Amino acid sequence: MKAVRFHEFGSEDVLRLEEIPEPTPSPSETLVRIKAVAVNPADLVIRAGHWRLWPIPLPFVLGVEGAGIVEKGRGRFKAGDQVIVSGGPLGSRTDGLYAELVAVPETLLVPVPKGISLEQAATVPSAFLTAYLALLHTARLKAGEWALVTGASGGVGGAAVQVAKALGAQVITTVGSQAKHAKAEALGADYVIDLSSERMAETVQRVTNGSSVEVGLDTLGGDIVAQVLATLMPGGRLVMVGYTAGPSATLNIFDLLKPINLYGFNLFAIPSEIVGAAYAQILAWLADGTIQPVVDRTLPLAQAAEAHRHMAARQAFGRVVLTM
Ligand SMILES: NC(=O)c1ccc[n+]([C@@H]2O[C@H](COP(=O)([O-])OP(=O)(O)OC[C@H]3O[C@@H](n4cnc5c(N)ncnc54)[C@H](OP(=O)(O)O)[C@@H]3O)[C@@H](O)[C@H]2O)c1
Repeated sequence: MKAVRFHEFGSEDVLRLEEIPEPTPSPSETLVRIKAVAVNPADLVIRAGHWRLWPIPLPFVLGVEGAGIVEKGRGRFKAGDQVIVSGGPLGSRTDGLYAELVAVPETLLVPVPKGISLEQAATVPSAFLTAYLALLHTARLKAGEWALVTGASGGVGGAAVQVAKALGAQVITTVGSQAKHAKAEALGADYVIDLSSERMAETVQRVTNGSSVEVGLDTLGGDIVAQVLATLMPGGRLVMVGYTAGPSATLNIFDLLKPINLYGFNLFAIPSEIVGAAYAQILAWLADGTIQPVVDRTLPLAQAAEAHRHMAARQAFGRVVLTM
C-alpha cells in the first residue's frame, strides 16, 4: 500500500510517498481503508524532530486523525461503514494515518454522521473534542456568558467559536490578519479582533460594554496569553490549550489576583467516558448542522509536503486534508 513516511527528521522535504507492507489486524483490531487524513500541528512538530514527550521511531508514518471505510466487518462495524479514526498511539507513538490502510482497535472508531463528507469527518476529533471539553468540562461555560477564543482560523479555535455559540455564549475571537476576518465572522462569532491592527484588551472592554469576559480559551500561547488574561473579569476562567505562538509567556500577576482561575488542558488526560459523552453531543450537532467542520483545502496524499508548507506559512483557515 501507499503511505507517506519519513526516515529522518527535518523540513517538509523529508516526507516521501512509499510502498510499504499492508498492516495485519490482530483479533481485536479493525482494518480501515483511509480516505482522508487531517494535517495537525503535531504532525509538523514530530516531522521536524521537535517532539519532546517521547522518542519517535524511524521511519515513521504521521497522521493522528482521519476518516475512511471499514474493510472487513468486526464488532460494532460492518464492511463498508464510514468511520472516523482517532486517538490512542496512532501518528505519535506508532505509525499513523498518512497511509491507505490502518489496523485500529474498535475503541478508536466512531461512525461518520450523516451530512458530512469523509474529508470533513477527518478533521473532527482533535478540533471539536478539544473545543467542547475545554469550554464545557474545564471552563464550565454557560449560556449568556462572554467567551474569548483565540485563533479562529485554527482547527481548535474555529471549532471553539462554533461550540461556544452552540452552548449559548457570546463569542469574541481573534485572527492574525484582515484576510481571515470574514471567514471568522462566518463561523458565528459576535466580534472578530484582527490582532495585526487591534489591541485585545481595549476591544474586549468596548465590545462587552466594559464588563470583560467570563471565559477565555487560548490556543496560541506566547505573548498572547497575557493579553487574554487582561480581558478576564474577576472570577473568570482561562483554559490554556495550545502554544502555536510560543511555549513561554510573561504574565502580569495582578491579572491573576483579580482573582481568576487558570486551567491547563490536555485532551489525552480526560477520562474516556467523558470523551465518549462529548463525542455523542458533537456527532449530534454535526448531524443537525449546528456545527460544521472547517476544511481549508484537500490535497492528494502525495502532496503532504505542500500541505505542511501551507500550514507553516499561516495560510490555512481550518484544516488541510490529505486524500487517498
Ligand atoms: N491541549 C490539548 O489537548 C490540545 C489539543 C489539540 C490541539 N492543541 C494545541 O492547540 C494549538 C492549536 O491547535 P490547532 O489544531 O487549532 O492549530 P492550527 O490549526 O495549526 O491553528 C493555529 C492557528 O494559530 C495561528 N498562528 C500560527 N502561528 C502563529 C504565531 N506565530 N503567532 C500567533 N498566531 C499564530 C494561526 O492563525 P492566524 O494565522 O490567523 O494567526 C493558525 O490558524 C496547537 O498548539 C496544538 O498543539 C492542544
